[in-house]
Parts: sequence; structure tokens; C-alpha cells
Amino acid sequence: MKLRLALIAAALASFAGCTSPKAPTSSCDTAIVKAGFSCTDTEVLRAATLLRAMTLEEKVQQMSGPAYNPNNMFDQEDNTRLAIPGYRFMDGPRGVRWYNSDYGTTVFPVAAARGSSWNVELERRIGKAMADEMRYMGRHVLLAPTINQVMHPRWGRAQETYGEDAYLLGEMGQAFVLGAQYDPTVADPLDPTQVVDATAYRIQACAKHLAANNIEDTRIYVNAVLDERTLREVYLPHFKKVSKAGVSCVMASYNRVNSSYSGYSKAIVRDILKTEWGYHGWVVSDWFAKGTTLTSPVAGLDIEMPFSSGAFPTIFDSAYFYGTALSSGVQNGTVDVGLVDEAVLRILYAKVHFGVIDKWDKTKNWSPWLTKSDATQALALEAAREGIVLLKNGATAALTDDVLPLSAATQKVVAVVGKFANSENMGDKGSSDAKVVDSSLVITPYEGIAERLGATNPSVSACAGATPCALAFESVAGHEAALATADVIVVVGAYYPADLARSSTGEEGEWKDRVSMSLPQRDLDNINAAIALRGQNPNLKIVVVMKSGGAIVVNPWIADVDAVVMAWFAGMKEGTALGEILFGDISPSGKVVQSFPAEETDLPPFQNATTGDVSYDYYHGYRWLDRQSKAARWPFGFGLSYTTFAYSNLVVASPTIPESGTLSVTVDITNTGTRIGSEVVQLYVGYPNTALADSWGRPKKELKAFARVADLAPGAKATVILTVKASDLGYWNTATKQAVVEHAAHALWVGPSSDTNDPNTQKGTFTVQ
Ligand code: BGC
Repeated sequence: MKLRLALIAAALASFAGCTSPKAPTSSCDTAIVKAGFSCTDTEVLRAATLLRAMTLEEKVQQMSGPAYNPNNMFDQEDNTRLAIPGYRFMDGPRGVRWYNSDYGTTVFPVAAARGSSWNVELERRIGKAMADEMRYMGRHVLLAPTINQVMHPRWGRAQETYGEDAYLLGEMGQAFVLGAQYDPTVADPLDPTQVVDATAYRIQACAKHLAANNIEDTRIYVNAVLDERTLREVYLPHFKKVSKAGVSCVMASYNRVNSSYSGYSKAIVRDILKTEWGYHGWVVSDWFAKGTTLTSPVAGLDIEMPFSSGAFPTIFDSAYFYGTALSSGVQNGTVDVGLVDEAVLRILYAKVHFGVIDKWDKTKNWSPWLTKSDATQALALEAAREGIVLLKNGATAALTDDVLPLSAATQKVVAVVGKFANSENMGDKGSSDAKVVDSSLVITPYEGIAERLGATNPSVSACAGATPCALAFESVAGHEAALATADVIVVVGAYYPADLARSSTGEEGEWKDRVSMSLPQRDLDNINAAIALRGQNPNLKIVVVMKSGGAIVVNPWIADVDAVVMAWFAGMKEGTALGEILFGDISPSGKVVQSFPAEETDLPPFQNATTGDVSYDYYHGYRWLDRQSKAARWPFGFGLSYTTFAYSNLVVASPTIPESGTLSVTVDITNTGTRIGSEVVQLYVGYPNTALADSWGRPKKELKAFARVADLAPGAKATVILTVKASDLGYWNTATKQAVVEHAAHALWVGPSSDTNDPNTQKGTFTVQ
């Protein structure tokens, strides 16, 4: 924890030491003061000198995409006169997406899976790995992380983000940003394998999409209506955290927020992000998003992408608004040139600071070996192992009932069934469609299981049960005879990824919300058919592996299957990790980052049909379920292991703290089972004594800290220290327009999930005074 804080402090210090603005002097232009930058920072002064040398057209070029080019939506023009490269963007966040090439990159598990590892250090290393791939490709700005909340699990882009909770989103997003923006010219004490390269430039991350971008079907129109408390406490804290961590770029979302499109929302971009939070990076529009020449510069939108003129896709229903329109606006006096100067200063400062100007080499071309990097593939596997969640194992929680792990000695014939049992499905095929080209590097569930069983290329006739054997079918129907021989049927229930063409077959992804929270019908048919087969074969075990970016409702089949695993979309090595987990080479340790309700009706309705107003409730996810006194089927933060842990000795080191103080608690975790295992310890705070007059009150509990205890041996005990700053416990007072920390006794729970009734959950109190 201390090391993490030190890293954050170092990153903050290295990012624009921008203290109190000074009045303009000869070297301290108005633009510097307006941007809140320091007039003594040499990089800022260098950016200002470049700015002064620019013509209006050159400034506007920095703020715009090029003319329409059907083959490239990610490259700005270069300024050759002043040797200032245009930005080369590329998408994330499950890997670096090269959308127009024959080559691929490493495909990591989607962020929903990586969030489920609750491993910030792993996420930082993934950020670093993507930064390296970006550099090999000669790109500058990685369009990741996505840190929008999963307001509702049917959201098509739930897979791209770290779940429903603002605190977790902020922690994981920050870790990714610090990794992606790492400085390759210095050694990393946490990563001895890192190559130090004095000539390398730094990658810039881009946190997206600010703000309240939580619905896909209507994403370019919908108006998210949020009152101030909901915005400040629920939808903005994670953006604030990554902005304070020094993220260089923030992307404004497509949707409207309180009636204003984000691309021209002064309230969100200029007033909150730039002014109130003191953000020193720059803001880019989402691709083809709405904006206007007059209002977007006022709002603080620094760059419009992807183009400045030419064809405009009708599907986006808008028009380009920077480029020549912006130059004309300045020339005819409708746009203040000071706004242009401030935007360009921000852009140039980042280009100086991250080495785009001095270190980037345009002539360097990336090579196709990227997907073959053993190190990044190993990292993708590590993330899959930690992000896959075991949700059910046997009829009860008792270990004697456990079905998993399987054993090749007793369960010889394993059939893997489903549309995606043995075909590539790594998630969304929209902007996050990172892919490998050498498909042999992608391990499907069937391949991973077959490999673990030692049964490659089996045929149905070879599968007689004498030696271990794996089979793959798209459906149970039609294969009943072969399946009658199976000891285990693994049904892979997976959503079909949507593409940007909005193809009718796509079921989940960008621009495509899920139509329901259950598995697709073809998967339900397979589950039911497998259950029916048990009539002939009572010893048949049924394991369901679910693939989606969002929580799934498992009624009514849950009672009739033996085990359930949430794989999310666990990347190119998903199958390998699944095989290892199902056969017990490793103990599962992931914990879900969304609440899994018993029924969809337990959640507020998902309003993804209207292009008009959608009122955002203050409550969603576990906060909503608590409010309704509804138990989740699997609560936020829940996940099973093959071992057991006991929580004991909760000690509140600081039972009374001032508002400026820090709560510090310790708890002991003992591995009481027989296998090595990792545990995610979670701390929640509640406000039973709130004096808030607001009719909503405060949430029953909120996640405020967590720690991952890795590889605890049987019998071993670890003491975990968790800290929470009292200043992070405030609610937003709409009258005074600031956070208020209540001076009262608060409740505290430390346990294995958000379920405060879990027998392992330790309870305590502390007082802020
Ligand atoms: C997505 C962004 C993405 C951009 C560029 C948009 O449709 O919303 O997340 O970065 O496209 O591909």
C-alpha cells in the first residue's frame, strides 16, 4: 500500500508541477495562467514558445483531426514546419487495437475480468505492457482505460470497465494509468524485467468517457439527468482520481449530461475537471461526437476527432466543428483566440512532457512479433487466472459437496458444449476489438480443458472413457449419444460480441446493450438438455461457464447444475486458465465486480430505449439492493475458492479520528483449508448515524478499501492493514456545494465480500470527530 502511494506521489510530481498561477509576464503568457500551469516549469515555457510561433491554422491543426480518410481514423496531421507530430491514437482497453492491419497485439482479459482480480499491481503491469506495444507501433495516446460505471449489467460496454463501484473503478483505473504512462527511461523497482531505454517516449493514457456514459443503444442522444449528489458521489469520483493521478487525456462522452452534450458541457469539462480538480491534461471528443464551434472551446474541449472535414457518417448525426470552422470562428470574432491558445498550450505541453516532440521517431515501424511475446502472453494468462470467478461449487457451501476441482483420474470424459465452446470469443468487436492474427495463440475453453486433460484432437469414437478425453460440440441436441458417455458436461454460455456495424447477430458490445440478463436462448437450451441427460446418467456433473461483460441471472437452472464459473471474456489465454482452474492446478481467487441479482426485476429498470431523458438514480448495484433489502444471488465482491479462509482479530487502530485523519484497521486472514489460495479482503463503511436530511439518506455501506492477499499457504496467517482517509467519507452537500464528512460514529465491515451477513465478516465502528 505504501509503495503504491509512493508511486502515485511520484507520478503526480512528474506531471506538470502546476502550482499557483501567476500574472502574465513576458515569459508567462495568458494561456499559461488560464490553463493553471506554472510559469516556472521549463516544459510549460517550451510549449508556450512553440505556441507563440504558430499561425492560427497551425493552432487549429493541433485541435483537429485531418480531412476525412476512410482508412485511418486515428492520426492527426504533423506540423512539419515546427516539427510537431500530430497525435497517433489507438484504442484499448482489453489490448491495443490495431484496427486496420494484418497484425495483432496481446489480448488481455476485458476490464470486467481484470477488475475481478482486485489486483492493482497486476493492472499496472498490464498498463505497462500495452504502453510497450503502443510504442512498438509508434502510437502516442492509448484510448483507455474505460472507467464508466456499470449502472446496469445489461450495458453493452460493461465488459470494458472495472465494475459497478466508484472506488474500485478509481483504484483500478489509476493503476492502469500509472502503468500505461510509465517512464521507460527509468528503472521500475516493482518490475525488474523492465528494459530501461533513455531514448523512449512515454505513452499517454486517455480515461473515458466523461461522463455518465452508461447506456449503448441510445448513446449518441440520451440525456443522463443527474442531480448534484448523484454526479459527485457516484459518477465522478473515479474520474477525479485518475485526473489527480496525472492521466494526460480525458475523452468526453457521446451522451448528454443534464441536457448538454459532454463535448460542450462547460459544467463538466471546464468547471469541474479543469478548474475545480486542477486537471492539467487535455480533453478529446469521442469519435464523431457532437460538439459546436462556438461552445466546445468554451467548455474546454481541446481536440475534436477523428476528422475536420469531408464525409461524415450519417449514423452519428452531426458534423465536424473544429478545423476550418474553428479558424473562421476566430477570424470572425465569434470564438475567443484565448480559448484556442489555452487548448493548444495543454496539447503542446503534453507533447513536450511525454517526449512526443523530441523522442518519437516517425520512421520507426512496428513489427508483427508483438502477439508472440512470451512475456505479454504470460501476463494475459496471469490476469485470466486471477479474474475468473467461481460462483457455485456443489449444492451447498460445504466442501464435501464440491464438484470442482475435477480430476482426470475420475472424470475422464469431459464434453465442452456451446456456440463458443471451441471458437474464439474475446468480447466486443467495436472499438475495443484488440485481436491476435495467429489464431493458434487464442486458447478456447475446449482447448484449455483438452490440453489439461492430456487429450488433444480426440474423436468421438476415441472417447470411450478408458483414457481421459475431451469433446466439443456446439449444442447438446444431436449429440446425445456421445454425451451420454460424458462424466462432465461443461456448458459454455456466452454472449455473441457485437460489432460497430450493429449487425443483427451481435448481442453485447459497443452500441449494443443486452436484451436481457439471462444467457442467450441457445445456451439455456444446452443447459436444459444437459440437465435432461442426467436422467440417463445420474453421475453426470454439469458445470456452466458464463461469458459476458455483465452479471447474469441464473434462474431457473441454477439449482440443477453443479458448478458455475464467471469467465467474463478472459482474453487470449482464457481456455488455459479455465483448464487450470477446473482441474485445480490453481485455486480460483476472482471476486465479481458487479452484483448478481436473483432476478432482473430486483434492479431498477434499464432505460436503454429512450433517446430523451433518463433519470439516474443515486442508488444502483449493491447500494440499490441494500436499499431495497434484497439479497443478491451473488453479492458484489463475492467469489469462491478451493480453500477456506478465516477472518479474525479486527483491530481498529484509530477508533476516533479527526476529519483530517486516517482510519487504520488490521485483520488476520488464515488459510484454514488444504490448498494454497489468494483472498481479496474488502472494507466497507456505513453511516447509521447520518444526520442527512436528504430523503435518500446514505448508502447502507460503501467500499472504501481492499487488499489482495496472494498465495497464502494452508495454515498460514496474514495480517492485512487497510486504511481510509476520513476526508473520503463525505457526502455532497448540494447547498454548500462541497463534500461534508459527518462527525459521527460510523459502521465498519471487513470481510470476503459486500455481504455483511457473511459469517467471516468482521464488524466494528469508528468515530470521526
Ligand atoms: C468509442 C470510443 C473509442 C472511439 C475510437 C468510439 O466509438 O466510444 O471508446 O475510443 O470510438 O475508436
